[in-house]
Amino acid sequence: MKQTLLEELHLSLTADVPFISPKFFYDEIGSHLFDVITLLEEYYPTRTEQWIMDAHRAAIAKAIGDCDVLLDLGAGNCAKASQLFSSIKPKQYRALDISKEYLEAAVADLQKQFPQIAMRAQAIDLSLPMAFPDISNLRKIFFFPGSSIGNYDPEKADQFFTNIAQECHGNGGLLIGVDLVKDRETLHLAYNDPLGVTAAFNLNILLHVNRIMGSNFHLPNWEHVAFFNESLSRIEMHLRARADLEVILPSDGTKEHVIQFKVGDLIHTENSYKYTQEDFTEKLHRAGFDNIQTWTDPKKYFLVCFANAKN
Ligand SMILES: C[S@@+](CC[C@H](N)C(=O)[O-])C[C@H]1O[C@@H](n2cnc3c(N)ncnc32)[C@H](O)[C@@H]1O
Repeated sequence: MKQTLLEELHLSLTADVPFISPKFFYDEIGSHLFDVITLLEEYYPTRTEQWIMDAHRAAIAKAIGDCDVLLDLGAGNCAKASQLFSSIKPKQYRALDISKEYLEAAVADLQKQFPQIAMRAQAIDLSLPMAFPDISNLRKIFFFPGSSIGNYDPEKADQFFTNIAQECHGNGGLLIGVDLVKDRETLHLAYNDPLGVTAAFNLNILLHVNRIMGSNFHLPNWEHVAFFNESLSRIEMHLRARADLEVILPSDGTKEHVIQFKVGDLIHTENSYKYTQEDFTEKLHRAGFDNIQTWTDPKKYFLVCFANAKN
């Protein structure tokens, strides 16, 4: 896996428009920083999604029905899934995340609190196709909260949904939270908090990359940039060079690369797409789901959907 990540980083950093996949945000520090972001006043998605889940707990559980296995995609600290246990009553819980150590610690803690549920932590890269042959005959409910789907380009999101619909084998569905289009200022503040936690989260990706590649990104040379790109309906996060500089990427097995950055040059680190309710449910339909039920908050900031996989 490490070799693949190294190759992936080499390719993305030496591309014409350099970028780093957002999955590299989540080393141990990144996972903790994300937890702090969710506590910020400006970061409405976590709070709003939780409000919807609490306000509609019974209706959501009814829509879901029986659950043999709850698969928590990008589980993080597993807190959101654990709050569903009492209403959904899964027989098994499988937490999947790229941040292995953080995930394993969270699942070990959770297993002590819920000894009746068989739990498993699975370190996995969700940007690759998923398959769960060992539980193919069980009713699976996939859980993908936090608008993590917003990090996927729209075509990639379509493939991801198709993959999930197929893995349900006509028995199960997807419970998903997605951030909705809203006024610019609210969106801007959510990714530009005055305390600078989102900036730290963004910059930390360079420390993670240095650890994986042995590169020499120097944090004081970079600054956080986040803005709403209205035409593409997405928040973009970038890191901007504060000076002309060189970054050395050690050999990828063939040659050493030196990347030149000019002051103001950007490395693209994340997109966070914002959807309308109609566009999003249409996407789920196209991917192989039907009977889609939706819940939202009074300001219509965020949407929670349960979509049944078609038979
Ligand atoms: C925005 S956080 C959401 C965490 C939690 N589900 C929530 O809603 O609060 C995204 C989570 O997805 C994980 N993640 C990001 N990219 C991933 C990938 N390519 N494969 C697996 N997990 C990934 C991160 O480690 C992180 O825990």
